[in-house]
Amino acid sequence: MALRRFSEQQLTAQVVRRIRKTRDPRLKQVMTSFIRHLHAFAREVKPTQEEWMKGIQFLTETGKWCDGKRQEWILMSDTLGVSMLVDALNYRASAGATESTVLGPFHREAAPEYPLGANIARNASDGVPCEVSGTVRDTTGTPVAGAKLDVWEAGADGFYDSQKGDAMNLRGVFRADAAGRFNFRCVRPEFYPVPHDGPVGRMLTATGRHPMRPPHLHFWITAPGYKPLITHLFVKGGRYLDSDAVFGVKPELIIDFRKGEDGVARASYDFVLMPQKAAGAARRERAR
Ligand code: BEZ
Ligand code: FE
Repeated sequence: MALRRFSEQQLTAQVVRRIRKTRDPRLKQVMTSFIRHLHAFAREVKPTQEEWMKGIQFLTETGKWCDGKRQEWILMSDTLGVSMLVDALNYRASAGATESTVLGPFHREAAPEYPLGANIARNASDGVPCEVSGTVRDTTGTPVAGAKLDVWEAGADGFYDSQKGDAMNLRGVFRADAAGRFNFRCVRPEFYPVPHDGPVGRMLTATGRHPMRPPHLHFWITAPGYKPLITHLFVKGGRYLDSDAVFGVKPELIIDFRKGEDGVARASYDFVLMPQKAAGAARRERAR
């Protein structure tokens, strides 16, 4: 068979044609789109060979920074706003439920489970004492008894426990009571930088950005029959609310953490979970 002359214009179509036998239809769709967008990117940017190599080296280095404790790719996705975009696309189905936001790289499996009211801060030096309380209900207002609340935060020094060693601190799992209520003690969240000593940090600096996140407390709330909720509570008046390095701030999640005369900051929030069935129905509606 005669070889066709190379054509810059036809190359994209040729590559797409080459994957036409992909069995998995979703994979075929994803790969087709990926090839088209990647080619369009190259056409738009017209990288020199040196620039293309520099890009490949950057991606290689990003992978090399990943290990059991550091996920530079998630950080890249977060700082480029892709994590929030994927979250928004998937969470559209949950109208009426509490807004979601990024998971981030600092959640740990098997955090200690505590009784309601316990303090997740092990040391007095961890930060300003704080009490957080509220409820977990569903979109019909029914309390979600026994909902599991996995919470975690950085200390006042700006670090998560896993950035300093293996000991668990400033994280814990609580179960809402029969009326869906919860309360626990922690430290008032403070602003801190995302890890910026690697490739992502260089990218932020090179593009004139700072690595800071506004003060926040992480939640991962689950209950059988409900769509899991991954979210934060942000501190009203905190720095960097308008320039979060990972674009995670939603106005509905900004609340008062007011310091009382006793020196304890207090915050309260009522979470709303989406029943799994309703989330599924909304997803099917959207796919039609
Ligand atoms: C965090 O809030 O823990 C976080 C989120 C995204 C990237 C880095 C850190
Ligand atoms: Fe965080």
